[in-house]
Amino acid sequence: MKQKSEKLYTAKQITSALIAFIFLLGLLCLYYGSSFVPALSRSDGEHDGTDPVLGGNIRDFDDLLEDQEHNPEVPKSIPICDIKHSELIPCLDRNLIYQMKLKPNLTLMEHYERHCPPPERRFNCLIPPPIGYKIPIRWPESRDEVWKANIPHTHLAQEKSDQNWMVVNGEKINFPGGGTHFHDGANKYIVSLARMLKFPNDKLHNGGNIRNVLDVGCGVASFGAYLLSHSIIAMSIAPNDVHENQIQFALERGIPSTLGVLGTKRLPYPSRSFELAHCSRCRIDWLQRDGILLLELDRLLRPGGYFAYSSPEAYALDPENRRIWNAMHDLLRRMCWRVAVKKDQTVIWQKPLGNGCYLKRDPGTQPPLCSTGDDPDATWNVHMKACIAPYSAKMHKQRGSGLVSWPKRLTAASPRLEDIGVSLNNSMKTL
Ligand SMILES: *[C@@H]1O[C@H](CO)[C@@H](O)[C@H](O)[C@H]1NC(C)=O
Ligand SMILES: *[C@@H]1O[C@H](CO)[C@@H](O)[C@H](O)[C@H]1NC(C)=O
Repeated sequence: MKQKSEKLYTAKQITSALIAFIFLLGLLCLYYGSSFVPALSRSDGEHDGTDPVLGGNIRDFDDLLEDQEHNPEVPKSIPICDIKHSELIPCLDRNLIYQMKLKPNLTLMEHYERHCPPPERRFNCLIPPPIGYKIPIRWPESRDEVWKANIPHTHLAQEKSDQNWMVVNGEKINFPGGGTHFHDGANKYIVSLARMLKFPNDKLHNGGNIRNVLDVGCGVASFGAYLLSHSIIAMSIAPNDVHENQIQFALERGIPSTLGVLGTKRLPYPSRSFELAHCSRCRIDWLQRDGILLLELDRLLRPGGYFAYSSPEAYALDPENRRIWNAMHDLLRRMCWRVAVKKDQTVIWQKPLGNGCYLKRDPGTQPPLCSTGDDPDATWNVHMKACIAPYSAKMHKQRGSGLVSWPKRLTAASPRLEDIGVSLNNSMKTL
């Protein structure tokens, strides 16, 4: 019995080491741009199904290094970075901003946006894991606990202890599933949102019509973690801010997430990608710059998409919060969003299904509709625009994007693909 569990452990170790190595390689590829990739893909045709890079039995990082000697595909000259770089994130390195004397506009959160190092400042080395790094705990256990050694930061746990985000427990960090606005756990919160929207059987997926969720200012991504068991997949985003890297915890837990910020550039998703956006006390000033950040959410939401907002501005009665609420309410009315429901600490807005409301606005109403030259799907390094992207005539007519529900969506051709000439028939041919 004991032997068996040891064997299992070794197998686990191997798999995890492989995964970690692939991840490191991925980082490297990003680092070297395309120069590294052709070398890997060239080998594709040559090998016999075994991985040319990873080869045979690899137990841990030391073995991997040894393996370099025997494997011509692995560059021999790449050293290991100093341990102080073990958390380096290329292009999101705050030290670089200071060292290069860049002057990002802090008010606009530019310091949390991408700033890539010039070639001479790139590290040509492999990122080492932190000291004491352990094989990560597997999903689904990882939703609730991770090794402390893998993310040696406990500051966030202390700061957020009252909000039930995470608790240090010996060698582990535990995640009780709480959040600023869901102290009783994310699960109850998710059900309460479904109830508010009167969805059948209190299911937030609403018969598969809500599948893609964007959680902004996600904390340690407990909302996204618990949505998974509700057949909903959330992309959780947060900046690498004063709370330390919350995304590091989210990824260690195994929850889809990425470093991101609503600053000056569009988020890297095409228009109409999400059915629901969520902000639980995400501390974003939605009113700034003519509502440009809400307009970015507007771009990302599908026709009829929801924005669930749990924040003091939505319920607190003090004059300052009332002022913000009234101003947000007015802005969103001009954007043609309607309050779907407001209850307790949460308000849920809904974006229109067609252009009718936009066309009925008084001439000169702000924010304006985007000019026809603006491509709402252009996202990489594109500045946000303070305008509303109207629907195509086809979407306006059919009142929605015509997307079928999940999981039928997996195999049905989406109208968007059909628009660019890809039907299920010819896409199946190419597959
Ligand atoms: C930062 O951006 C704000 C808003 O656009 C602007 O008012 C301010 O002058 C900018 N600050 C700097 C230092 O450029
Ligand atoms: C796909 O192919 C089938 C069989 O060839 C055909 O009956 C069907 O009409 C085609 N569908 C589309 C959308 O072209």
